[in-house]
Amino acid sequence: MLNMAHQAEAEFSALQARGAAFLGTELAIMGGAMSWVSERHLVAAISNAGGFGVIACGAMPPELLEKEIAATQALTDKPFGVNLITMHPKLDELVQICLRANVGHIVLAGGIPPGPAVRAVKDGGARLIAFAPALVLAKRFLKSGVDALVIEGSEAGGHIGPVSLTVLAQEILPHIRDIPVFVAGGLGRGEAILGYLEMGAAGAQLGTRFAASTESIAHANFKNAFVKANARDALPSIQLDERFPVIPVRGLVNEGTKSFLKHQAETLQKFQAGELDKTAAQLSIEHFWAGALRRAVIDGDVETGSVMAGQSVGMVTSIQPVAAIIAELNAQAVAALAARDSAG
Ligand SMILES: Cc1cc2nc3c(=O)[nH]c(=O)nc-3n(C[C@H](O)[C@H](O)[C@H](O)COP(=O)(O)O)c2cc1C
Repeated sequence: MLNMAHQAEAEFSALQARGAAFLGTELAIMGGAMSWVSERHLVAAISNAGGFGVIACGAMPPELLEKEIAATQALTDKPFGVNLITMHPKLDELVQICLRANVGHIVLAGGIPPGPAVRAVKDGGARLIAFAPALVLAKRFLKSGVDALVIEGSEAGGHIGPVSLTVLAQEILPHIRDIPVFVAGGLGRGEAILGYLEMGAAGAQLGTRFAASTESIAHANFKNAFVKANARDALPSIQLDERFPVIPVRGLVNEGTKSFLKHQAETLQKFQAGELDKTAAQLSIEHFWAGALRRAVIDGDVETGSVMAGQSVGMVTSIQPVAAIIAELNAQAVAALAARDSAG
């Protein structure tokens, strides 16, 4: 029996070997960058537990990012990454800050990584990770020198694309073998991670489960909302009129999401009555959520704030230390493998 368990553990390690080697970690588990949430404490906790934490730079100015990296390095001597948003006006400066601080892996999110940033990361000796929302882009990124990809399904929390991980994985994993591909979106249990590793993924990225961890600095209201919520409560934002696009963001339904619909309807009426031109109406819709994630995560306003969460929120049943979450995922995958070994 003991041998069987050891064998299953070895099999799970072998499936993670490529991703872990790429990240420089024990396990091929990445903590997805989450604005306001993925700061020094959570990032260091994930890396110290054998995973790979990623700082979310978000809209931080360069000086703040520099401090956050140094503070994280003070809490862990294990590898971690930094996630930069491509439309940040100081992207090039942020890349240089990461390189100077010896950050080994830079994730470029929020669009196609611009050529100069790709070259700067590569010339600086860091590894570049990008999000591929479709196979054509995955192939293009591979050619442009990206070192690894994350494919994030629409089950994920935060800004999402239209395609589920189930489909993205089938579209991309069989065709991209030259670089590691990490899967993300809706992952909450070890058996699911195991399944994607067996399909060819190098590892998995999780956000929601870590946002509700003990080490996460998110407000108790935010974490408790995760514990209470079911998968069906984490829905994408709704766009009322195709002339006024809304970037889809998955989060828990609350008063804020209801007011957003009302706000769109009122703005539309003002546009139709000629009280607002198209640009002003679009801006008014875009500005509705300004500061709303911070309000929910830091201030604990889970009624009107933006409570970004993946469908995986249904698998958050308590607030646990990061190491316990990782151990649980590991145990679930290993148990599934052991059951299969003993049956075969
Ligand atoms: C509260 C929250 C904030 C997020 N912020 C970001 C972000 O700033 N940048 C980013 O690339 N992804 C962001 N994400 C996505 C995560 O990095 C990760 O890919 C996603 O959470 C995976 O899906 P899961 O939540 O079902 O595990 C965010 C997710 C959540 C839940």
